[in-house]
Amino acid sequence: MALFYQHNINETTRLGIWRIEEPEAFFFQKVSLQREITHPNKRLQHLAARWLLQYLFPDFPYDEITIADTRKPFLPGEQYHFSISHTGKYAAAIVSSGQRVGLDIELVSHKIAAISHKFLHDRDIYFMNESNLPDYSYLELLGFMWSAKESLFKWYSLGGIDFKENFQLDGPITETAGGEIQMPFLFKKELPIKLNIKAALFEEISLVLSWVAT
Ligand SMILES: CC(C)(COP(=O)(O)OP(=O)(O)OC[C@H]1O[C@@H](n2cnc3c(N)ncnc32)[C@H](O)[C@@H]1OP(=O)(O)O)[C@@H](O)C(=O)NCCC(=O)NCCS
Repeated sequence: MALFYQHNINETTRLGIWRIEEPEAFFFQKVSLQREITHPNKRLQHLAARWLLQYLFPDFPYDEITIADTRKPFLPGEQYHFSISHTGKYAAAIVSSGQRVGLDIELVSHKIAAISHKFLHDRDIYFMNESNLPDYSYLELLGFMWSAKESLFKWYSLGGIDFKENFQLDGPITETAGGEIQMPFLFKKELPIKLNIKAALFEEISLVLSWVAT
């Protein structure tokens, strides 16, 4: 078993990252495919992330997972809210019985820098420059920003979102004494909503994690 990271955020909300080392047969013991996925690694990622849901909360009802028109998976009875992400050999999930959640993992890469003009508002850049985080490179900060906006997209889940206009930093990014990254965001679509995104960097594998729970 290859649990890479687990964080029990509070009594009702847990997140985890799984390093995929198992063959498909391992995950098929508990999880089944709800749609055809032909690419072997994408199939493994999909299976591993779902497997993690029950690892975090053993009574998670796989059979009830429904896919919305937006492609968001959800439980109609809302016994749990959950959000999934996968990249490379990693699958991640956040599960909560009480909070709406969004989660994303990303490998930090120059590809993010190449598209940063598409997802960063001037206000984001202003607050990124105001952030005093000498231990992180600018590329890593871009990784936090992209991942945070993907987490917010999943948290909102209804689509129709412009990353630049609808999700904006609302203050400098800070780091707690425990090493957790805190990103104050403003969600500007209907009435503005302040949201605090949490994030972390796993430097040894250049992996950014972000999540939101409200
Ligand atoms: C949906 C989206 C967020 C997925 O992100 P991704 O980096 O491609 O993939 P991830 O592995 O992080 O996440 C995939 C998971 O997101 C979940 N997901 C898909 N659509 C979703 C939605 N509308 N809401 C919430 N979650 C969703 C699914 O669980 C999926 O995994 P699964 O199919 O195995 O169940 C992404 O494809 C997307 O549409 N982003 C918005 C793009 C955009 O507007 N960009 C503009 C700025 S340049």
